[in-house]
Amino acid sequence: MRIGILGAGGMADALGTQWARAGHEVMISGRDAAASAARAAAMTAEAARTACPPERGPERGPESGPESGPVAVRAGGWAEAAAFGEVVMVAVRQAGLTDVLGSAGAALRGKPVIDVANAEGPYDPARPIAPLIRDLTGGHVVKAFNLCHVDVWRLTPPVFDGRPLAVPLCGDDPQALAAVRTLVADLGCTPVDGGGLDRATLLEATAAFMIGLWFGGADAQAVLPPVAYSGL
Ligand SMILES: NC(=O)c1ccc[n+]([C@@H]2O[C@H](COP(=O)([O-])OP(=O)(O)OC[C@H]3O[C@@H](n4cnc5c(N)ncnc54)[C@H](OP(=O)(O)O)[C@@H]3O)[C@@H](O)[C@H]2O)c1
Repeated sequence: MRIGILGAGGMADALGTQWARAGHEVMISGRDAAASAARAAAMTAEAARTACPPERGPERGPESGPESGPVAVRAGGWAEAAAFGEVVMVAVRQAGLTDVLGSAGAALRGKPVIDVANAEGPYDPARPIAPLIRDLTGGHVVKAFNLCHVDVWRLTPPVFDGRPLAVPLCGDDPQALAAVRTLVADLGCTPVDGGGLDRATLLEATAAFMIGLWFGGADAQAVLPPVAYSGL
C-alpha cells in the first residue's frame, strides 16, 4: 500500500517505520524539507535494522521492495505526500491542521484518511477534530491510534500480558475501514469496530480522560473489568 503521512514528528515516525518494515511505501512530510528527509532516512534505517533477522544478513535492505522486506521511506511536501498516498494519515498537531489541510486537503478527496489527532490543551467537546478533517478534505476519515502514547506504536509488536493491543476504529466508509484494519494488523494489533465517524468524538474524549488518569498516576488499564463482567 502507498501511505502518505502529513507530519514528520513522533507519530509519523513510529507508525510509518512499522509500515515500512511491513513492506508498505511510505512518504512523510513536514514544514522543513531537510528535517523531513533526515527523519525519513532514520526511519528507513530503523525499519531495515529491526526487520533483518541476523541469520539472513543485511541483504534484505531498504531497497529490497515490498515482497522481500522494508521499503525506503520518502519525504516530500504536504501536497506531495497527500497525492502519493492511497491511504493518508494526518499526524500534525491541532495548531497546524487548518494550514496543512489547506495546502494538501484537495488531494485527499475520496481517499481513506487516518486521523490520529488529540486535542491540545483542555478538551473541548464543541471542537471535535475528526469531522473537521472530514470537512477540510472530503476524505473517508477513520479515527484510530489516538488512544496510546507514541512509544506504544514503536513496540514490535504492542502486546501486553500476552494480549495484542486492540485498536478501535471509527469511520463510515467500508473500504477505508478495511484498509486501516490491514494497517492495524500489520502492527501486530487487533482492529476493533468502534462504529461510525459520529463516534470518533468519543475516542477523542476517551483519550483526554485516559491521559488525565495517566498523568495523575492512575493505572488506567485497571479501570475496565473483563468482558465477562460487562453485564452482557
Ligand atoms: N505523541 C503522542 O504520544 C500521540 C499519541 C496519540 C496521538 N497523537 C496525535 O498525533 C498528532 C501528531 O503528534 P506527534 O506526537 O507526532 O507531534 P510532533 O512530534 O510534535 O509532530 C507534529 C507534526 O505536526 C507538524 N505541524 C504542522 N504545523 C504545525 C504547527 N503549526 N505547530 C506544530 N506542528 C505543526 C510538524 O511539522 P514539522 O515536522 O515541520 O515540525 C510535525 O510534523 C497530534 O494530533 C497528536 O495529538 C500523539
